[in-house]
Amino acid sequence: MERLKVAVLGATGMVGQRFISLLEDHPWFEVTTLAASPRSAGKTYEEAVGGRWKLETPMPERVKSMTVLDVSDVARVSSEVDFCFSAVDMTKDEIRKIEEEYAKNETPVVSNNSAHRWTEDVPMIIPELNPEHTRIIEYQRKRLNTTNGFIAVKPNCSIQAYAPAVHIWKEFGPKRLAVSTYQAISGAGKTFKDWPEMEGNVIPYIGGEEEKSEKEPLKIYGHIDENKGVIVPAEGPEITAQCIRIPVLNGHTASVFIDFEKDPSKEELISALTSYVGEPQKLDLPSAPKQFIQYLEDDNRPQVTLDVDFERGFGISIGRLRKDTVFDYKFVGLAHNTIRGAAGGAVLCAELLTAQKYIGKK
Ligand SMILES: NC(=O)c1ccc[n+]([C@@H]2O[C@H](COP(=O)([O-])OP(=O)(O)OC[C@H]3O[C@@H](n4cnc5c(N)ncnc54)[C@H](OP(=O)(O)O)[C@@H]3O)[C@@H](O)[C@H]2O)c1
Repeated sequence: MERLKVAVLGATGMVGQRFISLLEDHPWFEVTTLAASPRSAGKTYEEAVGGRWKLETPMPERVKSMTVLDVSDVARVSSEVDFCFSAVDMTKDEIRKIEEEYAKNETPVVSNNSAHRWTEDVPMIIPELNPEHTRIIEYQRKRLNTTNGFIAVKPNCSIQAYAPAVHIWKEFGPKRLAVSTYQAISGAGKTFKDWPEMEGNVIPYIGGEEEKSEKEPLKIYGHIDENKGVIVPAEGPEITAQCIRIPVLNGHTASVFIDFEKDPSKEELISALTSYVGEPQKLDLPSAPKQFIQYLEDDNRPQVTLDVDFERGFGISIGRLRKDTVFDYKFVGLAHNTIRGAAGGAVLCAELLTAQKYIGKK
């Protein structure tokens, strides 16, 4: 098939770089347009990024000489592409506005930003968990008065290490969760070079993260209200979260305590995780991990250095599931924050939307 033309908005930033690297040899999508702030517009991509390239892999040759456009030149960027990925860093109001302008220009937006996560007719997707939520796009298009344009978002990176397991266990009635996340510095767009104070350090605060960690899973577990044309978040489980920055480059770990309404055995819980097959696996999407969740039996796993790249960073690792003395069970989860938790999650979401025919050639 002819590849779809894609723009990366915020292409010079850390998440933008990850998009470019993940899409380098993508079978369905081709990055044809790069856009960033007016500071970068008019420069070649290589000049605009300068010393800010943050990935371990080198900058792909084909993007180096591409001229960066201004994100706010919506008509120009839209005219060049079939859809766009958004990873701009602006105020929430500005992001909401600019993403809506792209949608209204009939350019679908798959966003890494949080600005639209609570817009009621914007689907917030983890493709393995709630692929059916994309149906809300029909209602959103009516509101925006578009035939093609819409906005879809992926959730926060902090929830990826536990929200999937809890969803897969829904037959056992997850009731209450206490979560502590141990989050990598790349989640703040940083490396140790630009955040040396993090070496050997722990910071017990990440602005806004605890609220996202407690609430976002509920939208993913929610349902579509066909009368109102909105996604209604689930009422439970109750989640309390504490989010801590640790001196790790990539990989968010979560330590989770959980109560169930039913009384599942450890074997039932593990088997539900490892046998789970989601829509991306059924559709054989290009970025889909073959195994969505692996369960590690060794007491000292999952470990960031050994397990963060499981399934190219698209898979989730769970371990240490055992009975608890206060809650029913406790476990530890690990997910790659900039692949599954950011650009990779958005690419997988765009693949799902393409397979479902919400995104196509203009
Ligand atoms: N890092 C992560 O793991 C992660 C995870 C989840 C969500 N996020 C979110 O994703 C977004 C991007 O994060 P990041 O870490 O990649 O940030 P970043 O490295 O600071 O990059 C920000 C990007 O936005 C562009 N930008 C800044 N101001 C702009 C403006 N006024 N108009 C147009 N473009 C503008 C920048 O262009 P210039 O280079 O021209 O300034 C750059 O391309 C943020 O909203 C962040 O909260 C990040």
